Amino acid sequence: MAEIKRIGILTSGGDSPGMNAAIRSAVRVALKKGIEPYGIYKGFAGLLDDNMKLFNSRDVSDIMQRGGTILETARCEEFKMDRGQKEAVKVVKRRGLDGIIVIGGNGSFAGALALSGYDIPTIGIPGTIDNDIAGTDMCIGVDTVLNTVVEAIGRIKDTASSLERAFIVETMGRESGYIALISGLVSGAEAIIIPEIPVDEEFYDKMADKLLEGKKQGKKHCIIVVAEGAASAYTVARYLENKTGYEMRVTVLGHLQRGGSPTAYDRLIASRFGADAVEALVDGYNAHMIGIQGNKIVRLPLEKVVKNSKGVNLELYELAMELI
Ligand code: F6P
Repeated sequence: MAEIKRIGILTSGGDSPGMNAAIRSAVRVALKKGIEPYGIYKGFAGLLDDNMKLFNSRDVSDIMQRGGTILETARCEEFKMDRGQKEAVKVVKRRGLDGIIVIGGNGSFAGALALSGYDIPTIGIPGTIDNDIAGTDMCIGVDTVLNTVVEAIGRIKDTASSLERAFIVETMGRESGYIALISGLVSGAEAIIIPEIPVDEEFYDKMADKLLEGKKQGKKHCIIVVAEGAASAYTVARYLENKTGYEMRVTVLGHLQRGGSPTAYDRLIASRFGADAVEALVDGYNAHMIGIQGNKIVRLPLEKVVKNSKGVNLELYELAMELI
């Protein structure tokens, strides 16, 4: 097993609150083991540009409570191509990096796998607000984003019931309905629309009837949560307004969901992931992801993780529907 003397750490794809705690943890555990940790800026794009710095303990002081990522991030098209990957490998060899920790989502893990194909040990840490990574119960940032969205919906409910309006709240999630489903479930939304469960005109007509029925029974507000990848909140609002005559408003929560100080839970799992990622490299692991299952840290082959995107939990969807 090759000795690990120097590693690189990067964040890639969409940032998520808690990534800084993972960086801090990986850097500090590496230093304690006598390993030199290099912070690579701007994800794989930064790796290609040799944009990195040797970190000391002070470089990661006072960052755990900050949202985003101090390493910054990028979505890098060049790295998806062979030519880009070969350039990155040259940088890794020149720098003498014995392993790379990649914090991100499925796209970032595909990049990590590509590097490991060139004999560069890589370890993935799941960091995405979409919680769509197979093999881990939670990803860094999910708990924070849920709390942000639930608070926002609570505020919207206050004004909705004061004016007896219906609101369509659009959450992030181009391909994943997780944020919409869980925030809708725990906010008592009247309907939840997610990309994993397609709906048709009949569904909207039933929703319109329910809206009218609720109003008749003295219901003061109606909140419909829709994931951005399922439908446009404005289209849903226009359709229901025409059908019911009910005054509709739309709130697209957008990128405010991804920012903000991470919750204690996100800081905790990020710290655990960061530490175990370094341990895994030292133990000789390559092309593995660190995840959490039932509060236990696990190491899973990246190839399996990338192949099996996590679907939505149907039981939770059914529960949400039952509670409406
Ligand atoms: O990081 C995941 C995510 O926030 C998705 O929920 C969302 O659809 C997408 O990224 C938005 O990406 P961008 O910030 O590049 O517009």
